[in-house]
Amino acid sequence: MDRIKLNDDLEFSRLIYGMWRIGNDSDTSVKHVEAKIEACLEQGITTFDQADIYGDYGAEAILGAALKANPSLRDRMEIVTKCDIVAPIGRYAHKPVKYYDTSRTHIELSVETSLREMAIEQIDLLLIHRPDPLMDHMETGAALDDLVKAGKVKSVGVSNFRPWDWELLQSGMRTPLATNQIELSLSELSPFTNGDLAFHQKNGQPVMAWSPLGGGSLMTGTSDLTALMDQIAAAQGVDRAAVAVAFLLRHPARILPVLGTNNLTRIKSISDALTVEMDRETWFNLYQTGLGREVP
Ligand SMILES: NC(=O)c1ccc[n+]([C@@H]2O[C@H](COP(=O)([O-])OP(=O)(O)OC[C@H]3O[C@@H](n4cnc5c(N)ncnc54)[C@H](OP(=O)(O)O)[C@@H]3O)[C@@H](O)[C@H]2O)c1
Repeated sequence: MDRIKLNDDLEFSRLIYGMWRIGNDSDTSVKHVEAKIEACLEQGITTFDQADIYGDYGAEAILGAALKANPSLRDRMEIVTKCDIVAPIGRYAHKPVKYYDTSRTHIELSVETSLREMAIEQIDLLLIHRPDPLMDHMETGAALDDLVKAGKVKSVGVSNFRPWDWELLQSGMRTPLATNQIELSLSELSPFTNGDLAFHQKNGQPVMAWSPLGGGSLMTGTSDLTALMDQIAAAQGVDRAAVAVAFLLRHPARILPVLGTNNLTRIKSISDALTVEMDRETWFNLYQTGLGREVP
């Protein structure tokens, strides 16, 4: 498995396993979670994506239970988590409204809670989950710098940020932001032309792509796009998911797809995507079919 360097301190596997849906699995036992992690590690998938809010603020604890039972796993993983969404569920069920909070107090509290829930000493990468219209970039930036200095987090980044959100936060901090995690797939193609990928490609920052299978929508139903994906998959002896992921890997911006299947058999074949050959004609055929029109 290729490894991608985000900065001098941080290197990720090219493919990442996301734990948003981990709490929805019919089996959340320690044994099953360990089996999923091991299935990833066996393929060289060492990077795992979490957020405080996943599983109604319960997903980090599901991972934490597995790490407590088998502490040696931690040293073989890079753990990403996110904060700033406060939604009236789980530990915030008493809140009257959903909001984003990038204050120093909230970020520090979130980090302490994430460390405790996952039973780890350091978060490899902390992301601000969503741009907060009330973000005081000097306060947020200083809080993030201080967390890095204190060793609570190794690196920091953002998610769902546009280039101007990124520049605002970066202007208030010394630590270079490491990555932006954005929605990107054959069903969300706008970052290819709206400046998001160009911005990070120019600056040399790899981009994490969430819901690379459209959250499963690309895997179900029939359309011109699914027919084309199946045709390419059949020719290369892989499944449709591998083609959807290979489409992202082909782009020069160094996209890191974050896959979210709970199915152990599917987890075991995530890395098939790395075997897919995607020439320019095939890429454009998928791109145009996804867009529903020919490029001008
Ligand atoms: N930063 C953000 O704002 C943000 C937002 C959303 C997600 N994320 C991250 O991105 C990760 C991935 O998101 P996602 O789960 O929506 O990604 P995804 O990989 O696009 O979709 C996974 C879903 O597709 C289904 N699926 C159906 N057929 C499949 C097949 N053949 N192969 C694989 N999956 C298939 C899976 O069901 P089965 O489980 O039954 O296979 C699962 O429900 C999350 O875990 C999270 O870490 C981040």
